[in-house]
This record gives sequence, C-alpha cells and structure tokens, in this order.
Amino acid sequence: MNIIIADDYEKMSRIAADIIAEKVRNQPKCVLGLATGSTPIGTYENLVADCKAGKVDFSDVTTFNLDEYVGLQPENDQSYRYFMNTNLFDHVNIDKARTHVPDGSNPDAAAVCEPYDEAIASAGGIELQLLGLGHNGHIGFNEPADEFPVGTHIVDLTETTIQANSRLFDNADQVPRQAYTMGIGTIMGAREVLVVVSGEDKAETVALAFSGPVRPQVPASVLQLHPNCTIVLDKAAASAL
Ligand code: F6R
Repeated sequence: MNIIIADDYEKMSRIAADIIAEKVRNQPKCVLGLATGSTPIGTYENLVADCKAGKVDFSDVTTFNLDEYVGLQPENDQSYRYFMNTNLFDHVNIDKARTHVPDGSNPDAAAVCEPYDEAIASAGGIELQLLGLGHNGHIGFNEPADEFPVGTHIVDLTETTIQANSRLFDNADQVPRQAYTMGIGTIMGAREVLVVVSGEDKAETVALAFSGPVRPQVPASVLQLHPNCTIVLDKAAASAL
C-alpha cells in the first residue's frame, strides 16, 4: 500500500485527479471503476477542469460504478447514476453509452448482479478503481460482515450507513434500504486501486482499515492485500495513523 498524505481536501483531490488523468493519458481506452459520495467530488471537479483544458480525453474511456440504490430510477436526483451524470459525465467528453452503473430501477437482483460482473470482465476488467471509505470501514456498500462478499450483489444497508447517507435526503425514512454493490472480489480484481479519504471523522476508521488486521468486519482492510493500492488522505484523515 502506498499512502500519500495531502495537506487538505483540495490537495487530496488534485493528487487523486492527477493519478486518474495520468492513467487515461497512458491508456486512453482504459476501464475506470468509479465511486460516488462526498469525498470524490473534488477529484471529479479537477477532472472536469482538466478535460475542459484539453489535458485529458475521456472519449475512449469505459466506466463502471461501484454501486447504486435499489428502487431509484436513474433520473431520481438521489440515484448514483444522477450523481455521476451531474458531477462528471455531463461535463467531460465521455460516451455515456460506455458508462455503467448497476440498474437500481430493476428489483431483480439476479438480472442485475451477475451480468454486471460479466460486463466488467468482457470490457477487460477494471484498470483503476476509485474508492471512498465509509465510517464503518465499508467500501462500495460492502458493510462489516463475517466474510468478504465476492461478486456484485444486493445488500441490506446497515443503520449506520442509512443514517450517514440520510444527510443527502430529506430524512432517514427516504434512504433506500437496499443497494447493489460490486463485491470485494470485484474490487480486488481491479489492477490498481485508488482510495480517497478526508476528514478527522474518518481518522479512526483509516487507522483500523490500513494499520489494523485484515478482517471482513472492517471491509476496507482487505485493500492491504492488494498489490497496487494507493491511499490519498488529507492530514485530518491521517491523524490517527
Ligand atoms: C460510494 C460508495 C461508498 C462511499 C463511502 C464514503 O459509491 O461506494 O462506499 O465511498 O460511503 O462516502 P463519503 O465520501 O460520502 O464519505
């Protein structure tokens, strides 16, 4: 694991965007795994600025997002498809047909999950997977559990995650109770992983995940076993290491 400590959120975001932009410049047809949430917003802002400045070209890039709420239509402004469109895809020269988010509007998990992993495999696998880190150590929606889930699957969200995500909804009752998520196997299959974490409220989780034992009760700890994983923290998130 390569841990980079940036002064603040802005610098963390710039460093992460540089790693992604460099990957796209070197491999214009690469497959990126993408995340939603508050943390990568600054990374996407930098990528949008880079694209507008002609420094990076997304026209041949394919993307697969980590996860999506079950029960939300893509045009729902709380859906992760909507988030990706408004924070990145609408502002860069990517072909939307090459962007993939699990279909949360389809309640049939069997029709969504296995085909999602198959689509990733037939695109050649993920070259670089961007991740955020949940307060409970989750990555994607892989919540603390007794084992690491392998492939894309449906999950019941934990109360902690529902409460954490309720800040983006009118109230906690509106947060969907289930989500589709890539599994830990899907994530670990990426040839490179890039994690962004910001804020003192994540400091204890960072220490547990990246300097504690590898265990499914702290899902992100599995990244210690990934052969090419970079973690970009701001100083506050690194404060308990
Ligand atoms: C988002 C995702 C989640 C978030 C995590 C951190 O697609 O899969 O694992 O990365 O919940 O979220 P933020 O960045 O909002 O703290």
